Amino acid sequence: MTHYLDAAVEAARAAGELLRHNFQQPLRVNSSEAHDIKLEIDVRAQTLITKLLLEKFPEHALYGEEGIVGDQTSDHQWVVDPLDGTVNYFYGIPHFCVSIALRYKGEIIVGVIYDPMRHELWKAQKGEQPNLNGKPFRVSERADLREAVISVGLSKTGVTIAAGLPLLQEMVHRARKCRLMGSAALDMAYVACGRFDAYIEQGISLWDIAAGWILVETAGGTVEMKPRADMKDKYSIVASNGVVDLKL
Ligand code: IPD
Repeated sequence: MTHYLDAAVEAARAAGELLRHNFQQPLRVNSSEAHDIKLEIDVRAQTLITKLLLEKFPEHALYGEEGIVGDQTSDHQWVVDPLDGTVNYFYGIPHFCVSIALRYKGEIIVGVIYDPMRHELWKAQKGEQPNLNGKPFRVSERADLREAVISVGLSKTGVTIAAGLPLLQEMVHRARKCRLMGSAALDMAYVACGRFDAYIEQGISLWDIAAGWILVETAGGTVEMKPRADMKDKYSIVASNGVVDLKL
């Protein structure tokens, strides 16, 4: 499995370099809507990742935010968000990342998240301890919500905002602090290494959280994903250190 992890690291670093190099440079907007922006650089980053991964593993499929490649029923499927935190990136906020996971027969076996601005690379593979820049980590041990820092995402539509706001309203009173950082993959990585105690969002896509999922689980935390009946291919997610009592 290590060759898959090494390939994911190489692709994440290459895409991260592309993003860092173009950060705060003029950007082409492919489309925009009320609460979202799509950039050409997302597509360029995914094209680069696709080339690096599928040249090595031509029989694999890739399922990414910017499109799918190959036979999606293949045993091996890469799940990719080439730029998670696109709106942050566009506004010059240095909080975004590359997220790459590999699913084998539906189970996530490898996950890599790379923050190119802080040069932080989280990696995990099934059955092994995850690490951040080579240093092993675990989730936090905070069980009392009053001491916890909780990240809440509101996603990008009126429906997800309406679903998330009551939760934020409640959490903001009960937790020590709530954070809305704009990158679901980094939220997951931060839960995994103990910076956040939990992350909650209503209406997330698999590519946003696939790599983070294995990071959180191998770090001792828990991830609950529920498909949303009202939105195709969207999920509600609660990722936590497994002990904080969210009373949801
Ligand atoms: C978005 C970010 C954001 C989350 C949204 C995601 P994108 O991903 O992760 O934090 O709230 O639900 O769609 O569009 O920047 O890749």
